[in-house]
Amino acid sequence: MERFELEQSVDERLIDLIDAGVFVIDRELRIRGWNAFMVSHSGRGRREVMGRSIFDVFPELPDDWLRKKIARVFALGSPSFTSWEQRPWVFRLPHNRPITGGVDCMQQNCRFIPLKDGQGAVGHVLVCVFDVTDAAVLQRRLAETVSALEVERSEQQVLIGRLAEAQEQLVQSEKLAAIGQLAAGVAHEINNPIGFVTSNVRSLERYLEGLLALVELYDRHADLLPPEVCEAIARRKAGIDYDFLAEDAGGLVAESRDGLERVKRIVSDLRDFSRVGETEWQWADVHGCLDSTLNVVMNEIKYKAEVVKDYGDLPHIECMPFQLNQVFLNLMVNAAQAIDGRGRITLRTRVEGDAVTVQVTDTGGGMSPEVIKRIFDPFFTTKPVGKGTGLGLSVTHSIVARHRGHISVVSSPGEGTTFTVRLPRQQSAQACP
Ligand SMILES: Nc1ncnc2c1ncn2[C@@H]1O[C@H](COP(=O)(O)OP(=O)(O)O)[C@@H](O)[C@H]1O
Ligand SMILES: [Mg+2]
Repeated sequence: MERFELEQSVDERLIDLIDAGVFVIDRELRIRGWNAFMVSHSGRGRREVMGRSIFDVFPELPDDWLRKKIARVFALGSPSFTSWEQRPWVFRLPHNRPITGGVDCMQQNCRFIPLKDGQGAVGHVLVCVFDVTDAAVLQRRLAETVSALEVERSEQQVLIGRLAEAQEQLVQSEKLAAIGQLAAGVAHEINNPIGFVTSNVRSLERYLEGLLALVELYDRHADLLPPEVCEAIARRKAGIDYDFLAEDAGGLVAESRDGLERVKRIVSDLRDFSRVGETEWQWADVHGCLDSTLNVVMNEIKYKAEVVKDYGDLPHIECMPFQLNQVFLNLMVNAAQAIDGRGRITLRTRVEGDAVTVQVTDTGGGMSPEVIKRIFDPFFTTKPVGKGTGLGLSVTHSIVARHRGHISVVSSPGEGTTFTVRLPRQQSAQACP
């Protein structure tokens, strides 16, 4: 056997003690040195491998790659390295301490070190094979754990987002409830004066009739009065435009009574409406809900659209009427807001099997498919700040869901929009009243 610098300068026994594979190859890639680690891990003794090509001893070696790698070490005279991360193993060897986890082969870092001869030329390459199986397995586990944590973290991020949304929604519904309470309070306060004003107007009407009849009686007997009195009366009558006054007074009173009736109805609807927080199941008339809601929003709607009612013959349904008011309110307000200039809003009700459907159709601007996809998302709005909160339809959706109902929409840009709310006639299996 040839002698190398390595063998001359380092005790072979020392190399045998190293806990790493160490062997030497010449330019023809023949094995020229083989330490105890290599003997024990390859199962091949020194005599058996000495002088044989490494491709003979390790037939599974990546031929092309390794030849180039070693040629470079010979040519450049500088060491080269491979790590398990790029190439888990180069030499197929069993690892030191078998570890469970599906690693059947030693994971290794390899070093290719040039060995120079007396003239300074690279005559051989020393190959060191370090067993890093334990570290590799641990590192892989660590990477898996880190990526699992990353996934968990992003899931948590999503949850935190949802929580924030839910909280925001809660705040909004709290606000709605507060506004409802305020409206109920105001409605209550208005109700009292409206009561006595109505009764006073009724009395005034009666008094007026009496007074006018009395004046008429005087008129009929005017010829009994001295002419200068008659003249004074005529002057006074002309001064107050008596004929017109007598004709108009009745009309004014009737109009006022009408106005008071309307205020009363609005107040009562407002009181109904402000009970949105009530969550009692009742048998109620959907048309009643639609009408009282319409009264509340008519102010907002009347300048934008005529409202057409196309009501079917509906049975009472088991529902939370004050919550349904909220649903219809949102749909009607959205319909009115979608109309540019003047348009029409149609309220259509029908019976369908054991459910009723309520359709709100508008002749407004309609929606693109991208908008339709998001309309039920909380806080989705295409309206300017201050006009839309983006909560209407998300609240509507959850109320309809609570009724075990369904809401759908048909719309396209420029074609108007129809929302259809389907509500089951009854909630439980009990018999209808
Ligand atoms: N009838 C409709 N016509 C056209 N677009 C509508 C209609 N109803 C709802 N939308 C769209 O859905 C969005 C969300 O509605 P909504 O949840 O009520 O919130 P907001 O009315 O506060 O914007 C609106 O901003 C609008 O873009
Ligand atoms: Mg809205």
